Amino acid sequence: MTSTTASHAADLVAALLFILSLAGLSQHRTSRAGVVYGIAGMALALIATIVVAAQSISAGAVALILVATAVGAAIGLWRARRVEMTQMPELIAVLHSFVGLAAVLVGWNSYLEVERHGDAQTRIGADLLGIHHAEVFIGIFIGAVTFTGSIVAFLKLSARIKSRPLMLPGKNALNIGALVAFVALTVWFTISPNLPLMIAVTALALALGWHLVASIGGGDMPVVVSMLNSYSGWAAAAAGFLLNNNLLIVTGALVGSSGAYLSYIMCKAMNRSFLSVIAGGFGIEAPSGGQEEQGEHREVRAAEAAEMLAQARSVIITPGYGMAVAQAQHPVAELTRRLRERGVEVRFGVHPVAGRLPGHMNVLLAEAKVPYDIVLEMDEINDDFADTSVVLVIGANDTVNPAAMDDPSSPIAGMPVLRVWESEQVIVFKRSMASGYAGVQNPLFFRENSAMLFGDAKQSVEAILHTLGSDGHHGESSTGRQTSLAGR
Ligand code: TAP
Repeated sequence: MTSTTASHAADLVAALLFILSLAGLSQHRTSRAGVVYGIAGMALALIATIVVAAQSISAGAVALILVATAVGAAIGLWRARRVEMTQMPELIAVLHSFVGLAAVLVGWNSYLEVERHGDAQTRIGADLLGIHHAEVFIGIFIGAVTFTGSIVAFLKLSARIKSRPLMLPGKNALNIGALVAFVALTVWFTISPNLPLMIAVTALALALGWHLVASIGGGDMPVVVSMLNSYSGWAAAAAGFLLNNNLLIVTGALVGSSGAYLSYIMCKAMNRSFLSVIAGGFGIEAPSGGQEEQGEHREVRAAEAAEMLAQARSVIITPGYGMAVAQAQHPVAELTRRLRERGVEVRFGVHPVAGRLPGHMNVLLAEAKVPYDIVLEMDEINDDFADTSVVLVIGANDTVNPAAMDDPSSPIAGMPVLRVWESEQVIVFKRSMASGYAGVQNPLFFRENSAMLFGDAKQSVEAILHTLGSDGHHGESSTGRQTSLAGR
């Protein structure tokens, strides 16, 4: 077997491993296997690429590739070990920006190497030269949009800049104008390729990427992350065409299409138009006000909450971003176990965009060993709130905001929410009356059947556990377990 055949075979196996990885990652039970398939596929792809490259470049260049790979792997391992679950979307946004930048560099390199040294005619063939020019342009365009878009997403997600949408006058016309200019420049470049056009398309795409994501705000941010995931896939596929690397084309297409599909599912979950979000918040108006308090709220202490739970017949827990911040999943799992032991029916209602990344709450609950069969999705549980004694809203806010249903002027109007207020009693665990991610006040807090339990969610749940434990039912064992859980 020649090394080229071996490398094609390795590409094929790596592509299959990536497909297996995606399939594995779609379910909790198989997600670990999915990660292993992904790592194996990527390792194989790297080895095959370096082996093939080694045949046509100098030993010094191979050494440089190996050093770059080692440095990249070391930085990747270091960041992955240190990153908090809540910072995951930011990290993903940064990684997407690298893919975008790489695609831009590949495009520029392809232009400078092949076209300027005059051997394009012979290497590529006169017939295909126009296609090659178009590939260079498209690769640079998608890559540059992904690059600056991902940087803005990173800055917004890490709260380094405000997450409110940028509202430039005529923003839709700006976006459409940029796309029209890109098509015109591409046609021009395929007819007469030159450096000023390369600079123009790069600058245009960098500005468009920045503007597209800057125009998207609040509740649409999760879609942006998966949309940039999709863009980064298409950028990688474009680079694959330029480098004549089939595996990069296949992998890019897998990432591009799965990211686009995920964005579509999330848009459906948030009742947002997919096209309006990917077009940079097309048609979305700036949020107006909505921050002011809307009446009196009632406060309860942990002991009273414990009393309500002890009397409850059925309980639904709706976790949100605050549960992740407080790392309250272990005491919450313990509370669930204790209440179920007492014969209370306990279930979880998980909103599709609760937290800061898809599946955020499911991962935390699985980590705390909450049984899968009591963790339900919003659509599965929404009709059951009306027949529930107590709902515990643990660090959730936007995902349980009735204004999304009742107030058409709300910035989150139309987003499906967990109808927690239909239950007999709602207890909201948070530290203050502050708004959630979308920056809007929540009328739930002022409803008659709502009570606020202020404080860090982990401490509040631990206090409830303590009260439940000290009422004589489960005394000593629970306190001991509680301490060990808190320390995890
Ligand atoms: P949010 O609306 O973000 O509200 C979280 C609440 O948790 C805050 O109001 C905060 O109130 C409270 N909190 C923070 N730290 C806490 C702690 N240590 N203890 C107790 N409470 C704490 O949460 P959500 O309902 O999960 O909604 C998610 C939002 O994020 C949506 O708007 C969604 O569109 C957006 N988003 C989602 C994703 C994905 S893919 N899931 C990605 C990006 C953005 P206090 O400050 O008063 O404590």
